[in-house]
Amino acid sequence: MIAPQDVFPQIADWVANLDDVFPGSWVKPYFAQWEVVHLLSLALIGGTTLLLNLRLIGFGLSDEPPSAVRRAVLPWLNLGVAGILVTGVLIGTSNPERLYTSEAFTAKMLGLAAALVLTYGVSLPAARAEGRLSRGAGLWAAVGLAIFGLSLGVFAVAKLVNPGLWHLVIAAALLVLFVTRRRMRIIYLLGLVGLMATQVAIHHVIYRPDDYANLDPANKAMIGIYLAWILAAAAIQIVRGGRDPGGGPAVKALAYAGILVWVVTAAAGRWIAFA
Ligand code: HEM
Repeated sequence: MIAPQDVFPQIADWVANLDDVFPGSWVKPYFAQWEVVHLLSLALIGGTTLLLNLRLIGFGLSDEPPSAVRRAVLPWLNLGVAGILVTGVLIGTSNPERLYTSEAFTAKMLGLAAALVLTYGVSLPAARAEGRLSRGAGLWAAVGLAIFGLSLGVFAVAKLVNPGLWHLVIAAALLVLFVTRRRMRIIYLLGLVGLMATQVAIHHVIYRPDDYANLDPANKAMIGIYLAWILAAAAIQIVRGGRDPGGGPAVKALAYAGILVWVVTAAAGRWIAFA
């Protein structure tokens, strides 16, 4: 178990009391309303990080230099991040034991730390430098990727939560589909369709839909195959470059990570409810 209660057992009494005092007790009757603001903030973060990182990958607003895209999205990104942190803490204090006992929440907080480092330490500075990676940004990239890896590790071993990693696979598959072009896109799409058909066959022809003993390992193997296919296509796109140069290969790869790290954080947020 890697829930916060396993790492910080000494704060259990403080956590148990949080929803009886301000602000938790004050937010509790309006949990749903605050959660709506939480998700609206997420929409702002999603839109802005997509525009910023797609530009670095070499797609999207390619008429504008990366520094102009950065300038345009920065206030909205900051608003989204501030909004999600404030509302997150508020709804967290009104339902604290759910978070304290949740492995998904650990994955989410690690994802959030990695997302902040990769966005503010890497993507934004790289966009300001028109796609070049400074030594400082390179160091932040190493830190951000290491924390992102930890988040994925926690997510992957958390029982009843790890199916949420399919969100990462689907987001990565769609992202790569968006940035690939012409023949490459068709080949890539045919591969994805083939993998999906294989998975349907595994669930309905090869095994019975309730034969979990066989389906669990088969689905885990399928995740590996999907990721290999998606990563191979992304690697080709990164090396070939986009319609308009964004950053070099390292910046492009980090821009993919800069989008997907938010997807993983949001997916872990959603899966708090399922644990
Ligand atoms: C300080 C940081 C944060 C805290 C304390 C926090 C706290 C929470 C809490 C308490 C819930 C409700 C969980 C439940 O009862 O099911 C929630 C849901 C959620 N959070 Fe956060 N959050 C934070 C940051 C974020 C970030 C950065 C993201 C996205 C990148 C995010 C995305 C979500 C999503 C998608 C849900 C699920 C909403 C639903 O459909 O029920 N949160 N969060």
